[in-house]
Amino acid sequence: MNNALRLGVAGLGTVGASLLRLTQRHADELALRCGRPVVVTAVSARDRNRDRGVDLSSVTWFKDPVALATSGEIDVFVELMGGADGVAADSVRAAINAGKHVVTANKALLAKHGTELARRAEEKGVSLNFEAAAAGGIPIIKTLREALAGNTVGRVYGILNGTCNYILTRMEREGLAFDACLAEAQRLGYAEADPTFDVDGFDTAHKLSLLTAIAFGTEISADAIYVEGIRSISTADIEAADELGYRIKLLGVATRTDTGIEQRVHPTMVPKSSPIARVDGVTNAVAVEADFVGRLVLAGPGAGGDATASAVMSDIADLARGDVVGTFGRPAHTLKPYQRAAMRAHAGGYYIRLSVFDRPGAFASIAKRMAENDISLESIVQRRRAPKADAPEHPRPQEPQPVMLITYDTTEAQVKEALDRIMADGHIAERPQMIRIEQLA
Ligand SMILES: NC(=O)c1ccc[n+]([C@@H]2O[C@H](COP(=O)([O-])OP(=O)(O)OC[C@H]3O[C@@H](n4cnc5c(N)ncnc54)[C@H](OP(=O)(O)O)[C@@H]3O)[C@@H](O)[C@H]2O)c1
Repeated sequence: MNNALRLGVAGLGTVGASLLRLTQRHADELALRCGRPVVVTAVSARDRNRDRGVDLSSVTWFKDPVALATSGEIDVFVELMGGADGVAADSVRAAINAGKHVVTANKALLAKHGTELARRAEEKGVSLNFEAAAAGGIPIIKTLREALAGNTVGRVYGILNGTCNYILTRMEREGLAFDACLAEAQRLGYAEADPTFDVDGFDTAHKLSLLTAIAFGTEISADAIYVEGIRSISTADIEAADELGYRIKLLGVATRTDTGIEQRVHPTMVPKSSPIARVDGVTNAVAVEADFVGRLVLAGPGAGGDATASAVMSDIADLARGDVVGTFGRPAHTLKPYQRAAMRAHAGGYYIRLSVFDRPGAFASIAKRMAENDISLESIVQRRRAPKADAPEHPRPQEPQPVMLITYDTTEAQVKEALDRIMADGHIAERPQMIRIEQLA
């Protein structure tokens, strides 16, 4: 065991406990694949007495993760505690400063401090690996960082949050409202008691920021991402999307444009024929479009202890074999400052749902505002709301009726301007709904 790679694992929760199980169950096979044994020699968590379903009799327990990070008993510090700051950041910095390789699954930490930590690791000559931090069990970091080294990436996009995809899938399949699906996701453990981080798009943004840095060689810039969550999606939108040949997914998208890199997270209409449209439930998927390879789509579990531990072990196996790759696939000091493409310049098709008062001239006025902003309409769907049982046969003139529009390619600025004018004209009863359409081959 002299040449064993010694791991210090901080965090024995969902992922940490699975990693220990994996390391024990596959010890022999791992030793063959890595050319040396991989052993957990030390661990840290808060509660020493908790039964974690794994044998801890032969490992050293550290009360303090920072002490574990700098211990002479380990070669690699595996951070599986979570959190952008606090003990996770302190222990990762301490490990790097002490010359230890680091493996982490912590997207929040990297989205906030990734560039600094990558530079620090480079200065110290150690690796900082994070396969599990984006899309859980899907090996997208290795794919972008290594397998696509010979390509220039044009666009990377994906379903990066299982909670949102679960909710949208249930809404579509069962015609349920967002709130009901969220409650069900919470009951089943797919959503946190406070779902903000997931359903408002921030978790997707963290992961997207990591993919962007590798795909485009830029410094991490999670704060510069345009973020919109899925709370505003209604069953009317889901039904209209279906009728028009689309499905609605929360996508994270990073695209190279003439003016910089566009990074955005928002509900997106994707053509039903695209592979990403067929990804249901808690499953994640990431697509990469690159000049030589064309398009790749990887799909699989984006979370869960075992799937995430599988990704953590892929980073550990690289270290055991002596494979060293820059954190973001190139020397950290060569990462370019992130140049943001203005969201106003985003070009594409749009779905717009208006609640229009049923009165003469309303529709003509809407069409005029669209034309003034050079927006051409590809399709218009107008629905008569079914009258209530005790209502007269035709809706009263003032009762708003849903109208769905699909535009040809236009810009975000033009759409926003047209919708502001339409609102001001007073022919609609509520704020317009607007969902971007992503053209996917
Ligand atoms: N769960 C997933 O599916 C998943 C997927 C992808 C990435 N990740 C990432 O993986 C990381 C771990 O997630 P998780 O779901 O395994 O979290 P978790 O179940 O909440 O486990 C966190 C662990 O960290 C320990 N911990 C927290 N604060 C500590 C401190 N001050 N000192 C020592 N130990 C401390 C906890 O100790 P106690 O057990 O004693 O409380 C617990 O064992 C996070 O960065 C997360 O974003 C998770």
